[in-house]
Amino acid sequence: MDREIRIGVFGTWRGRAYMKSLKLIDGVRVTALCDKMPQRIEEAKALCDGDVAIYDNFDEFINSGKFDAVLLCYYFHEHAQYAIPALERGIHVFSETMAASTMALCVALCRAVEKSGCIYMLGENYPFSRGCLEMKRQYEGGTLGKVLFAEGEYVHPMSPEESWRYNNPEVHGQYHWRRYLPVTYYSSHALAPLMYMTGALPRYVVGMAAPDTEENIRKYKKLKTDAVGVMLVQMDNGAIFRVNGSSNIGPKGNWYRLGCTFGGVETVRGNEKCVRLAYNPWSAPEGVEVSKIYEAQWESDADKAEQAGHGGGDYWVVKEFIDAIRSGRPNERLDVYHAVAISAVAILGWRSVLQKSKRFEIPDFTKERARKKWENDNLTPFRSEDAPNTLPFNSPNTAKSK
Ligand SMILES: NC(=O)c1ccc[n+]([C@@H]2O[C@H](COP(=O)([O-])OP(=O)(O)OC[C@H]3O[C@@H](n4cnc5c(N)ncnc54)[C@H](O)[C@@H]3O)[C@@H](O)[C@H]2O)c1
Repeated sequence: MDREIRIGVFGTWRGRAYMKSLKLIDGVRVTALCDKMPQRIEEAKALCDGDVAIYDNFDEFINSGKFDAVLLCYYFHEHAQYAIPALERGIHVFSETMAASTMALCVALCRAVEKSGCIYMLGENYPFSRGCLEMKRQYEGGTLGKVLFAEGEYVHPMSPEESWRYNNPEVHGQYHWRRYLPVTYYSSHALAPLMYMTGALPRYVVGMAAPDTEENIRKYKKLKTDAVGVMLVQMDNGAIFRVNGSSNIGPKGNWYRLGCTFGGVETVRGNEKCVRLAYNPWSAPEGVEVSKIYEAQWESDADKAEQAGHGGGDYWVVKEFIDAIRSGRPNERLDVYHAVAISAVAILGWRSVLQKSKRFEIPDFTKERARKKWENDNLTPFRSEDAPNTLPFNSPNTAKSK
């Protein structure tokens, strides 16, 4: 596809970050915006070059014929519901996390991508931070051996004021996803980078949740939700990955570690551009330092990546999407099967929390036989004005708390 690629953006708050990154890529232009909040759309419009069509209604937006690819950057738990109609219209899809919030939607999304022949990519930006890309390079270099254990943490607590800005029911509605988010669901920023580095896919998940303090619940949240969600995930290569979902703890920051046969590589807490590469003294390659800490470097496009949000990840992830459209080949570690596997860890990790940490198997979504058994599983902890949640959004201990 050599001609200009026209992009529609659905959800213009998070969408704005990607619009800034798209400006750094040749042959791409935002031609349509959709959001129901007028102020957000005005601010996004100011970032556009040339004509841009404005919508506050998804149906009109998706049927407009104004774009070849769409960035889905709206409510966290509703991406698949809108990705599927886009794919049915031959529109390439870049979806913010999570890809799908029920097992049935995971299955339907795979089928829709297969039928459409379009490019689908999960908008997971954290695999593309400097530190994570360096970890991938080191792992692929082979001197560390095989990954046996890995850890991924995405810790993003908010001050009471910031949290209120994002959650205020008068602005965002009574049932906004951020208020009701069960603590295993926001786990893709912890898990996806580890999968991207190693190529491993999740096979089993076990989850646990820690309740929040009574003070946090009473004073700030005014809703009984948990503080921390943790999952142990057994991967298809046998390795165990420990990842978190939401983490209402301090301090803020991301951290990733690969523990391998001969040594390990990890980002440095508090300085995510840096990595520590270390071997067991008896298994270090000849002539290589046993342990060193150094700043990871971009392999290319440093000037562009440095202008983008989330440590450069916001540039690289949309660049990968545009490259995939041009080449006709999806990014093989953020394609629909990886996207729904990551979602399934969050969804079934939550079932595990609700069932005394029972182990759940993650289906192989590439196989119709394996995914078919989930095609009617619509259970969800999210609710709306019209539909109640069909699963609890808090763990049994938190639900019982005073
Ligand atoms: N990858 C990252 O680093 C990162 C960072 C922030 C947010 N996100 C993700 O981006 C997504 C959006 O996050 P946010 O903070 O912008 O959330 P948000 O809920 O505040 O914003 C969603 C936007 O979509 C609009 N919208 C929702 N449904 C609509 C509809 N049916 N019609 C028209 N407009 C509609 C809303 O008006 C709002 O402006 C989430 O999935 C979130 O997880 C990712």
